[in-house]
Amino acid sequence: MHKKVLVTTAWPYANGPLHLGHLAGSYLPADIFARYNRMIGNETLMVSGTDEHGTPISVQADKEGCPPKEIVDKYHKVIKRSLEDIGCSYNLFTRTTTDNHRKTAQEFFLTLSKNGYIYEKAMELFYCPKCRRFLPDRYVEGTCPKCGAEEARGDQCDACGRTLESTELVNPRCKHCESAPEIRERTHYFFKLSAFQDRLIKWIDSKKDIWRSNVYQFTINWLKEGLKDRPITRDLEWGVSVPIKGAEDKVLYVWFEAVIGYISATKEYFINKGDPDGWVEWWKSPDTETYYFIGKDNIPFHTIIWPAMLLGHGGLNLPTNVPANEFLNLEGGKFSTSRGYAVWLNEYLEHFDPDPLRYCLSINMPESKDADFSWDEFQRRNNEELVSTLGNFAHRVLTFIGRFYDGAIPEPGTLGQRDKSVMEEISATVDIVGMHIQNCEFKKAMAGVMGLASLGNQYFNEKAPWKADKNAGASTLYVSACIVKALSILMVPFLPFSAQKLWNMLGYGDSVHEQQWHSAKEPVKFQSIKDVTPLFKMLEDEDIAEQKAKLESIK
Ligand code: MF3
Ligand code: ZN
Repeated sequence: MHKKVLVTTAWPYANGPLHLGHLAGSYLPADIFARYNRMIGNETLMVSGTDEHGTPISVQADKEGCPPKEIVDKYHKVIKRSLEDIGCSYNLFTRTTTDNHRKTAQEFFLTLSKNGYIYEKAMELFYCPKCRRFLPDRYVEGTCPKCGAEEARGDQCDACGRTLESTELVNPRCKHCESAPEIRERTHYFFKLSAFQDRLIKWIDSKKDIWRSNVYQFTINWLKEGLKDRPITRDLEWGVSVPIKGAEDKVLYVWFEAVIGYISATKEYFINKGDPDGWVEWWKSPDTETYYFIGKDNIPFHTIIWPAMLLGHGGLNLPTNVPANEFLNLEGGKFSTSRGYAVWLNEYLEHFDPDPLRYCLSINMPESKDADFSWDEFQRRNNEELVSTLGNFAHRVLTFIGRFYDGAIPEPGTLGQRDKSVMEEISATVDIVGMHIQNCEFKKAMAGVMGLASLGNQYFNEKAPWKADKNAGASTLYVSACIVKALSILMVPFLPFSAQKLWNMLGYGDSVHEQQWHSAKEPVKFQSIKDVTPLFKMLEDEDIAEQKAKLESIK
């Protein structure tokens, strides 16, 4: 049965370029999943955009000395471009500064309010007497109360990764003027999160055996600690203003507002298609499944707060799954945007092709534990696995056909036992890889594809068609070409650019992206192969050394 599958990814802050950690954590797994779902015939929509409000943006604007609008325009472009170039197949990649999003977020707030889940309350906040303003989270810095690091921000300590309330900081100081802020009372709007405790526990319970255990455990632990109501407005100029008379000087808290982007992006996609009500089915029909691909730091917002917001609003689908990834490290250290210790996606793409990176991050995805990216491993996996196993197998088969069979895939003679078992292995791989992707086990899925390439090499060596006569060899080449065909289809979700190249070399003139997943099991056509060239390039030591040196200088 075909269904609707809504695939979403965390919205990256438009305050800097993307790095490989972001890609491995959220965008790549989502893209693999979306591409696969399209190939099995599910109606699939993949949407996201840049997160353009809140203190992460205004702090960066202060730092670069320009208005927030300039910052988000600049980085939205950079981010969107690199996601395209790495092959992420979004149906829409928008931004949270659109009118559509502002309206959608404000309406959502008002619905929650009408339903009785929003109330006003005075709270204690930092106020800088010198700057004469309230200081929202990232505008206060101080010593982390938990690990003692001196550079903790009001919302989070980068040293130990814990989330903080700014009033918890020891020796707090104003980020602008360094002076000590004082505590003042201020009224804000609160979301009645506590009202959802029981409903969420019941719902999460139904996910126990379906979700990744780290996601489930994290969520249930939070819930067991008891949910507290949360302030969802801030004293900031940059953001979506609170849609209530007299409160227009406040903005919606960026997290509260950004998650609503999942809905506004779906709306925008259908508005652009001239079908403004088209989004409704994608959010209200029980036959639509919704997947949120995020990094582990975003878990509570997607498994607790957003579901509570959806429940409070009423009539909207809850997440089907939230396959959060662990973190990717870099050469044994943590990615750090502030120190510039990162491999930036846009810079990577200036030097290398997209598919080798997609491969490395898939085969070594931080699914159930943190993973590490190193340039040496990147080079090794590219040269030994992509070039020598996958690329080499395809190249051997196709050049052999070119040389000894007039460039046309030969009809086989009677297939022997081994030939048949290899054909069965193709079928089994198609099913297994598909099942792994469906279960969000991308490492295993990628390994399954590579396993088929290895089997191909092994089979080709065993059969040694260069020793056989032309007729006996025909069966070997035919079966091998069937493997190559299957590979080119199975590669699509992971290595979309190389998949298309290989498809064309096999003599197909159409798009491999339009093929059905199960058609990988169907035998290859007896047609002429075309323009056979190596699928992947060897990476030289110099290319890698240059990249390593860049990181060393920051470490
Ligand atoms: N911008 C946030 C981050 O980078 C993620 C926002 S995800 C959304 O951590 F759901 F809020 F959109
Ligand atoms: Zn100040």
